[in-house]
Parts: sequence; C-alpha cells; structure tokens
Amino acid sequence: MDRYAVIGNPIGHSKSPLIHRLFAEQTGEQLTYEALLAPLDDFAGCLRAFLLEGRGVNVTVPFKEQAWVLVDQHSKAAHRAGAVNTIMRLEDGTLLGDNTDGKGLVRDIQANAGFPLAGLKVLLLGAGGAARGVIQPLLDAGPKHLCVVNRTVSKAEELAALFVDQGPISASGFDWIEESVDLIINATSASLGGEVPDISPKLIRPGHTLCYDMMYASEATPFNRWAAEHGAARCMDGLGMLVEQAAEAFLLWRGVRPDTAPVLAALRG
Ligand code: ATR
Repeated sequence: MDRYAVIGNPIGHSKSPLIHRLFAEQTGEQLTYEALLAPLDDFAGCLRAFLLEGRGVNVTVPFKEQAWVLVDQHSKAAHRAGAVNTIMRLEDGTLLGDNTDGKGLVRDIQANAGFPLAGLKVLLLGAGGAARGVIQPLLDAGPKHLCVVNRTVSKAEELAALFVDQGPISASGFDWIEESVDLIINATSASLGGEVPDISPKLIRPGHTLCYDMMYASEATPFNRWAAEHGAARCMDGLGMLVEQAAEAFLLWRGVRPDTAPVLAALRG
C-alpha cells in the first residue's frame, strides 16, 4: 500500500491523518497516512528515511523552510514562498516540493465562501512565513490590489518586493491605511497569544468586508471576534484552508481531488 505522512514537531494534534483517511475512504484510493514526530535537529534524516518507501509527505511547523531547501524542484506556488508543505517522490526518485497553503486559502475563499477575488482590494496582515506562503496564489487570483500590512513595516516591504513582478502588491504599516477594503486576511501569529493586530476598524466596511483568520480554534479567534464586532459581513477561520490545502496535496499525489465539504463538516463536528 502507498504510504504518506505528515512530519512536524509537535505533531500530536495534527488533523491531517484524519483528513487524508477520510479522503482515501471517499475516493477509494489505497493508501496509508501517518503522523511522524521529527527531532528538531534532524528533519532531513526523518524525511529521507520515510521517503525510502513513502510516496509523499506533508510538512508542517517548524520544518517548511527546511523542506524547501531539501527538495530537488519547486512548483510555481512553492518557488517564491520559500516554504514547502507537500513533497512528492517522483518516478526517478527526485523530490518535487509544492506549497498548497495558498491554493487552499484561495479555494476556501472563492469556492466555499463564494467570494471571487478578481478585482478586489485585499489586505494581508503579517509578513512572516505564513503570509509569504500564500501570496503567489492570491496574486494569481487577480485581485485589484494586495497590500501586505505588518507591525514591522520593513518586513512587509521586503516581502512585497519579492513578489512585485507577480501582480499589484504593496506594503504598509498598521497605522498608514484607513480606507475600507473588500477582504482582510490575518496571517499574523497574534491569535496564538490571544491578541488582535492593532489595525483601524475603518478597514472594515460594515456588511461588506470578508475577514479571514488563517488560524482556527474551537471557538471564534480573537481577530474574528474583533471583526464581527466591527460589522464584517462574514468571518471565516482557517479550518477550511486546512482541509483545502490537504485536498490539493491529495490531488498532486493521487490525481483525484476529493470532495472537501463532508470532510470539513466532519471536522466541525
Ligand atoms: P509565521 O511563520 O506564523 O508567519 P513568523 O514568521 O514568526 O510566524 O511571523 C509572525 C508574524 O505575526 C509577523 O508578521 C509578526 O509581526 P512582526 O513582523 O512585526 O513581528 C506578526 N505578529 C505576531 N504577533 C503579533 C501581534 N500581537 N500583533 C501584530 N502582529 C503580530
């Protein structure tokens, strides 16, 4: 049976084995999918050992940047993301690295929420690895403008500069903009500490703006609570993105895209 795995540290709470088991059941694909805890100082060894037999791997925190360095070739989405979350061992034994996080995010917003990105004004909060990983697919979706907004402005400027030839992108500090936008995506890690990025509520047009927190939790995230208080038309968390990025990985590996709706419903319980 073909073997797949997710590698991270920590890994105990990963939902990926359940998601891929449900995908396999639904599509009739014969595969196994396990969770592997790699030592912090030996991701490469863990990856190499698994891929002697394994066909593919998902990579999660904190190894996505190392995975980018270790693969032999990069997909377009992975190329400038500087991070790889999906690896496929090709027939000749070389490793293809993809990054399905951004494709999953875009799919969740466009297909699941019914919110086409073409022509929209979009703010991306944060300029760390999570933000960088989703920029290429966001620009590919054809927004009117994508502004990377970060507490440390220099990091937003560096990130926007990396993608400046890929579409309409700019950088900003938190207090530089006050005009409302169509979509605000929170890619900061602020929710982890129970915090909300210090941006103006005027960025939300009540009844119109969609707010998306790439984090998810059993209850509404701090960012989504803040957005709802200020009249966001809709608030979404990152659970849909998690399932959609997994579906993109499954498609790459197996050539079939599972139906994500029942899997997302099962996870929401
Ligand atoms: P990740 O891989 O999750 O992106 P990271 O690379 O450490 O993690 O980046 C964290 C991001 O969240 C950064 O953009 C950080 O802003 P700074 O560059 O100014 O540090 C942002 N961030 C973290 N906590 C935040 C908070 N309380 N308010 C606003 N932004 C925050």
